[in-house]
Amino acid sequence: MAKGIKFLGTGSYVPDFIVTNDMFAEFLETSDEWISTRTGIKSRPINTDKPNYYMGVQAAKKAIEQSEISPLDIGLIIVTTVNPDFYFPSMSCLIQHNIGADNAMAIDVNAACTGFIYGVDMARRYLYTDDIDYVLVVSSEMLSNQVNYADRSTAVLFGDGAAATIIARDENKLYSSFLGAKGEDGTLLSCRVKYVNTSPYKNEEAIEEFLGDKFKDINPDFIHMNGREVYKFAVDALPNSVSKACEKVGISPDDIDVLIPHQANLRIIEKAVSNLKIPMEKVFVNLEKHGNTSSASIPTCLDEMNRKGLLKENQKLCFVGFGGGFTYGAVIVEL
Ligand SMILES: CC(C)(COP(=O)(O)OP(=O)(O)OC[C@H]1O[C@@H](n2cnc3c(N)ncnc32)[C@H](O)[C@@H]1OP(=O)(O)O)[C@@H](O)C(=O)NCCC(=O)NCCS
Repeated sequence: MAKGIKFLGTGSYVPDFIVTNDMFAEFLETSDEWISTRTGIKSRPINTDKPNYYMGVQAAKKAIEQSEISPLDIGLIIVTTVNPDFYFPSMSCLIQHNIGADNAMAIDVNAACTGFIYGVDMARRYLYTDDIDYVLVVSSEMLSNQVNYADRSTAVLFGDGAAATIIARDENKLYSSFLGAKGEDGTLLSCRVKYVNTSPYKNEEAIEEFLGDKFKDINPDFIHMNGREVYKFAVDALPNSVSKACEKVGISPDDIDVLIPHQANLRIIEKAVSNLKIPMEKVFVNLEKHGNTSSASIPTCLDEMNRKGLLKENQKLCFVGFGGGFTYGAVIVEL
């Protein structure tokens, strides 16, 4: 299938404050050895003093600068995040305001850690069905807002950051995607909305009763995760998504030049690529220094590759991810 896309520019923002595994060991019963061997993560940047959208704005500005387009040329802004600063205005409107993209339509997408993949696929569909020529996709994530730093089984996994790209049409390039979701109800991976509600009419107890016993022992204030179930889902969803995206355009996983998986855990990535029989040399990994930055993880890798000169004409890139909801998906892009 032709009707591909091109990345005109990329950008990312990584907070300066870095939390190492040893820093966690100062206040949690954990160790660098445990975290490194189970996850591959050594340190993660944490945003301590700015709202989430600030990171997205910085990443977007860099992507626009590299694209050599005007912010006014952007027809659509898609922001992917699991932790917006406001219920409204949306993150995309806040970023739009800060970059001066006055001619754009602006929407937020929450597909959890699969957000960037959903965002890219939506961008392409708009590019081919509308009069939009340039789409800005920004993934901006501040998991430190949602992590319980007293819970060693989740705290060590996540980092903060943002990454962006400007996407345009490229009629003659290959493109494929395979996206989906399992409709997980939040008992395996979730973070509930915190309402500060003063309504005299609201019956909190009735709402909790409606949600049922399954949420009784889940702390509504923080990320909740059943690590083993997420692991099982991920090692199946990743190879399956890549295989299905390949099948749709008659190529095999062997034909992929570079695989950029969601950077959740090195063990998950290694298991998934061994199922696909893709050698690790073709897989880009930077989670050692970033941790899991949810939907920002894949575009952060893309920007790192781009700025290191590792992206080459005609390469077949594959992004693949999984996340809360249990969303999953893969996108194949010929450069
Ligand atoms: C989280 C994960 C690394 C845990 O690894 P695991 O080998 O499954 O470990 P378990 O959950 O079975 O826990 C084993 C033990 O380690 C302990 N443990 C958990 N986190 C720990 C930490 N940071 N330091 C030390 N011990 C820890 C557990 O409490 C448990 O102790 P217990 O046996 O006394 O109860 C792994 O399940 C995983 O990667 N899951 C996927 C998570 C993910 O990707 N989430 C993001 C989705 S986008």
